[in-house]
Amino acid sequence: MRPRLILGIESSCDDTAAAVLEDGRLKSNVVAGQSVHRAWGGVVPELASRAHQENIVPVVHAALEQAGIRPRDLSAIAFTQGPGLIGALLVGGSFARSMAQALGIPLLAVHHMEAHVLAHFIRDEIDRPAPSFPFLNLTVSGGHTLLVLVHGPLDMEVIGTTLDDAAGEAFDKGAKVMGLPYPGGPEVDRLARTGDAAKYPLPFPEVQGLNMSFSGIKVAFQRVVRNVSTDQLPTELPHLCASLQEGILRVLLTRVRQAMRQHDLREVGCSGGVSANSALRARLLALGEREGWVVHIPPPAYCTDNAAMIAMAGHFLLEAGRLATPADLPRARL
Ligand code: KG4
Ligand code: ZN
Repeated sequence: MRPRLILGIESSCDDTAAAVLEDGRLKSNVVAGQSVHRAWGGVVPELASRAHQENIVPVVHAALEQAGIRPRDLSAIAFTQGPGLIGALLVGGSFARSMAQALGIPLLAVHHMEAHVLAHFIRDEIDRPAPSFPFLNLTVSGGHTLLVLVHGPLDMEVIGTTLDDAAGEAFDKGAKVMGLPYPGGPEVDRLARTGDAAKYPLPFPEVQGLNMSFSGIKVAFQRVVRNVSTDQLPTELPHLCASLQEGILRVLLTRVRQAMRQHDLREVGCSGGVSANSALRARLLALGEREGWVVHIPPPAYCTDNAAMIAMAGHFLLEAGRLATPADLPRARL
């Protein structure tokens, strides 16, 4: 059988990305970020759409070139249908649909959050065993915080979610009040390494079951930062970052342990942008060791927004014969 070569295209937020997978094995992975949002302290939807327009052709071209293939070698094209910024999604979606039509190959409509879970299945030169089903996935990004019970590649059940802000948002908003540039998550991660996480204890949100909340932590943290004088801020930054990170991770790890016990699971995965956080990775691995779980965390490049995970989800959709129809238009909410 001919190898399945899938081009993935991602444009849901502020990264324009394209990747090629050959039967689930990575051949190229190109991401163009958008620095234009930094001056605004957050993603500006209109600027994101324009930057996607500028980047989409060179990014797809680079992905094909790095994979060493021509467009006519492709078996199918996968694009992010949603959720995301509608103007941003439309750029990748329209491009993917036109290209698939011109080549006469199938189009695959991918759910961005499912793709974050399927990032575990991307294969490359490093040997990483893929999770076996069923497993729990903690999907943590800038817009979502989900506990997902994964029964199969295309069979997922959300068993817990945030009731307000996402974990990534809590990192980013906390970073913003400290005057750190957007997106603040990676900067908080870096500064927290030398800080004392017990210096500014934050409340643990009272939420029932497996759901989560981060708005209380955000508000409490804003109050803490307001009480630190401008002179003291530079020396307090590592302690503030470590305390914020601790408050967020405590919620995530507590819920993971509860969910693993309730559903009697032995394997857990973590993906999405926040899973690039070094403390979260280390703590989840240590917790897994104590509890006897198999822990899966993809390399950071597959955790933050990328097109390899979109192509991976496309691979499973193609295998299942679930091709996009003309009605599968990009959607802000899915
Ligand atoms: O998955 P992603 O790239 O985009 C969305 O789909 O939202 O996630 C972006 C989020 C941002 O909130 C960013 O601050 C956070 O992931 N993030 C981190 C780290 N790297 C990215 N948060 C904490 N520590 C990091 N190292
Ligand atoms: Zn994402």
